[in-house]
Amino acid sequence: MTTNVFTPIKLGRYTLTNRIVMAPLTRCRADENNAPRAMNVEYYRQRATAGLIISEGSQITAKAVGYLGTPGIYSDAQIAGWQQVTAAVHSRGGRIFLQLWHCGRVSHPSMLPDNMQPVAPSAIRAEGHAHTMEGVQAFVTPHELTTAEIAVVVAEFSQAAQNALQAGFDGVEIHGANGYLIDQFIRDGSNQRTDEYGGSLANRARFLLEITQAVVNVWGADRVGVRLSPINPFNDMSDSNPQATFDYVAQALSPFQLAYLHVTEWAGHDASQPKPAFDFAQLRAAYQGTYMTNGGYTLDKANAAISSGTADLVAFGSLYIANPDLAERFAQNAPLNTPDASTFYGGNEAGYTDYPSLTLAA
Ligand SMILES: Cc1cc2nc3c(=O)[nH]c(=O)nc-3n(C[C@H](O)[C@H](O)[C@H](O)COP(=O)(O)O)c2cc1C
Repeated sequence: MTTNVFTPIKLGRYTLTNRIVMAPLTRCRADENNAPRAMNVEYYRQRATAGLIISEGSQITAKAVGYLGTPGIYSDAQIAGWQQVTAAVHSRGGRIFLQLWHCGRVSHPSMLPDNMQPVAPSAIRAEGHAHTMEGVQAFVTPHELTTAEIAVVVAEFSQAAQNALQAGFDGVEIHGANGYLIDQFIRDGSNQRTDEYGGSLANRARFLLEITQAVVNVWGADRVGVRLSPINPFNDMSDSNPQATFDYVAQALSPFQLAYLHVTEWAGHDASQPKPAFDFAQLRAAYQGTYMTNGGYTLDKANAAISSGTADLVAFGSLYIANPDLAERFAQNAPLNTPDASTFYGGNEAGYTDYPSLTLAA
């Protein structure tokens, strides 16, 4: 029988019932303490038939925030909120990892403790805007982290990983993608350091590898994933040689024997832009271990990737926003609901927990 998205797979210590993964999706609907609330519990509960859910990006500290209404994993209230989410997913037999997030320079003093400057590998301002309480405001020039401050951030990832364990998650995904702090270290457009965290590929990967080691120390490698986004220019990102950079990072992550490496082929929100050339098969070949892909996948494309061995799992983003029962719909070849981009970020249950599932629609 050919392997496809419905073939169970061993992921670390777990056996997933299918290879259909819910991609991490920021929805900006946490409560005023950045804690998950009842509607967030319902949203994840509805999507529990995915082989694996990866939570929306969740700040590791108050200093890591970049958006309003995004959840954190640094306070008791947040841990308690997430406990409700993980219990609801587990009650339906699902599995859920938490995505650990630090926004770095993609933030604004008005949303950070004591109006602090956002932090980054280098004092390079990103083009673009933060959505603050006072409205849209241009990103500011970030504070360049000292090596002592870098060690503090690594320790904060470790503490957040411990909090995720307490919140009942099945594992964690380190957010190394989409122009946030870890990605800002990896790509040389945002990292101009001359110390051991900048310059060579080994130096630019060091921050990610130190965080990975710290998180693995908490969870064990078989419950930790890492996400990368080699071609995503979102958040003003660029690299002089993405292929060499990300092949190196994939290779350097291999010895950890992680639960998975998650590589998104997504090139950002602006679909009108041509996708930069990048050989994902080459990156995949550079990595030894379980490989998850993402970015514009349909059922047919996902089955082709899995049956050919190009990927072991496929994550679906916008399709999971609109289809709580995506796995059942795929199994029945049923029509899919269309996502409504106007309700992606912020708001209430509309466009969040009210997309119909097949059983409700029948
Ligand atoms: C509304 C929205 C929120 C997102 N939030 C996150 C996030 O929190 N973390 C992350 O790594 N990627 C995030 N992404 C990227 C998605 O995980 C995914 O890579 C992207 O949607 C492409 O996959 P798709 O073509 O299946 O939608 C987000 C994308 C969208 C549309």
